[in-house]
Amino acid sequence: MNILVTGGAGYIGSHTCIALLQAGHSVIIADNLSNSKSETVMKVMDIAEKEVTFYEIDVTNAEAVDIIFKNYKIDGVIHFAGLKAVGESVEKPLEYYHNNIVSTVVLTKACHKYGVNRFVFSSSATVYGENNVPFFETMDLLPTTNPYGETKAMSERILTDITRSNPIFSLSILRYFNPVGAHESGLIGEAPNGIPNNLMPYVTQVAKGKLEKLRVFGNDYPTIDGTGIRDYIHVMDLAEGHVAALENLTEGVHVYNLGTGKGTSVLELVKAFEIANDIKVSYEIVDRRAGDIASYYADTSKAKNELGWTAKRDIVAMCRDAWRFEKNYKDFVESK
Ligand SMILES: NC(=O)c1ccc[n+]([C@@H]2O[C@H](COP(=O)([O-])OP(=O)(O)OC[C@H]3O[C@@H](n4cnc5c(N)ncnc54)[C@H](O)[C@@H]3O)[C@@H](O)[C@H]2O)c1
Repeated sequence: MNILVTGGAGYIGSHTCIALLQAGHSVIIADNLSNSKSETVMKVMDIAEKEVTFYEIDVTNAEAVDIIFKNYKIDGVIHFAGLKAVGESVEKPLEYYHNNIVSTVVLTKACHKYGVNRFVFSSSATVYGENNVPFFETMDLLPTTNPYGETKAMSERILTDITRSNPIFSLSILRYFNPVGAHESGLIGEAPNGIPNNLMPYVTQVAKGKLEKLRVFGNDYPTIDGTGIRDYIHVMDLAEGHVAALENLTEGVHVYNLGTGKGTSVLELVKAFEIANDIKVSYEIVDRRAGDIASYYADTSKAKNELGWTAKRDIVAMCRDAWRFEKNYKDFVESK
């Protein structure tokens, strides 16, 4: 299939492009490079030893999107492009609503115009809010605490309405848990701008000496060691989950959790990282962070039963691959 991958130069998108190419699909990337670099596209081609087509465009721009659909027979769209920093979304809600909602509307309009009926959407476990764990796809969505989460819930609703109005539209909504790690080549991985918001890049940057100490937000949660528990998933497992979702897509709306189903605490992850890589990570316990919940993880049985997909890589592989990438990586700002 010819797959249009929006946000394909980004963290999850680039790993998914490799998985798609390795599964024999052709890839057209549309990315405005607002949070990525064109070099990543070159690295994707090096790793997969296949060509991809790259359009540096903003997918909120309907005319630019139209050109791609006109030039290629697109068989399906995987829509990763979006802004994703929770804290920033509170400060700049309009940017988030505009970027994340308009992109979804523009792309689905183009799908309608050109008769493209396969669509896979990047959603997030954040849409479950404070439901009881584990999270099941059938749960009601609860309000999230930030505009970023709202854009994901709204996009899910928009896409669901579109699918209901068009009986041959096939939609897969993938709710990611906590993607970490990197491609095992060490060539591509997670390279956030500024101070990382997520745990793993923070840990790797402390290990490298770029940051002094990991700040652990709270050790008084009702968990095994008092620190927050999340369901970390290796980014290549997540990437392969997209291929499974795309290849098993049938008409109608399908929602899947992509996680491992296993919770790991912050301190367990730090310990696993130290053992996997034989390196020390300094940390300090600080106050809880507003908006964080104690623990969440996925029920993954639906993806297993319907897609035949389960995460294969364990926490050791996640830590080892994240560290290999960090060691290889020339700082984003320096290399720009
Ligand atoms: N990383 C996570 O922890 C996580 C968790 C749940 C959901 N998600 C979602 O998965 C998707 C991918 O996340 P990621 O971690 O790879 O982020 P990322 O920032 O690395 O990748 C997103 C890519 O989209 C591009 N982009 C943003 N707006 C665009 C636009 N209007 N037009 C064209 N390109 C645009 C960026 O340049 C970037 O390359 C996002 O939608 C994100 O919300 C991520």
